[in-house]
Amino acid sequence: MVGAPSILAADFANLAEEVRRAEAGGAELVHFDVMDNHFVPNLTVGPDVAAALVRATNLPVDAHLQVMRPDSLIPAFVAAGVVSICVQPEVTMHLHRTLGAIRAAGLEAGCALNPTTPPEVLEWAFPYLDYVNVMSVNPGFGGQAFIPEMAEKVRRLREMTDVPIQVDGGITAETAPLMVKAGARVLVAGSAVYRGDPAIEMRKIVEAGRRSAGEA
Ligand code: DX5
Ligand code: ZN
Repeated sequence: MVGAPSILAADFANLAEEVRRAEAGGAELVHFDVMDNHFVPNLTVGPDVAAALVRATNLPVDAHLQVMRPDSLIPAFVAAGVVSICVQPEVTMHLHRTLGAIRAAGLEAGCALNPTTPPEVLEWAFPYLDYVNVMSVNPGFGGQAFIPEMAEKVRRLREMTDVPIQVDGGITAETAPLMVKAGARVLVAGSAVYRGDPAIEMRKIVEAGRRSAGEA
């Protein structure tokens, strides 16, 4: 079970320290949300901030590109030193090529699915995928309500593939067990981690996940 704090909910003026605090609570991966004000109505940070964060933390950084044109950003995120990049298949015109470009750079390639995007859209992409992110809220903002039907999507994906599944959106110590029982392995959480002491809140989520997976 891997806990991944989403820096979207962190204090952007103190990112390195915010990541360190979640790491003290057992975080093993940093979830870095990139938004372009086109695919989603929000605007966040780009490759320069990712590069600064990569330098400032020992944890691997995973970039979630919530942007209309991911291809043109991939080289800059590769140069930034992130370990993985996930794109949204809803707006990625040539998914095979995009996933191939990410892997050719030595990174892990992922796809994130909007809540109503069916898992079947990935059926022919699995050989080129290293992970799937099941969005359990609409992309764009932190702090939204968890969509419980997404546990069924995780279950369906689990039947289709062994590719590791992340869940992203509304993940708390209460909702994580539903997703872990369905087959999720990476728990991305923003507001639930940063609403309090990130070390304490991250640990609660990871431990709730481990208990449901029978790992604790
Ligand atoms: C939403 C982002 C999420 C977001 C989750 O578009 O992909 O990573 O930070 O936030 P919470 O955990 O608050 O739902
Ligand atoms: Zn995300």
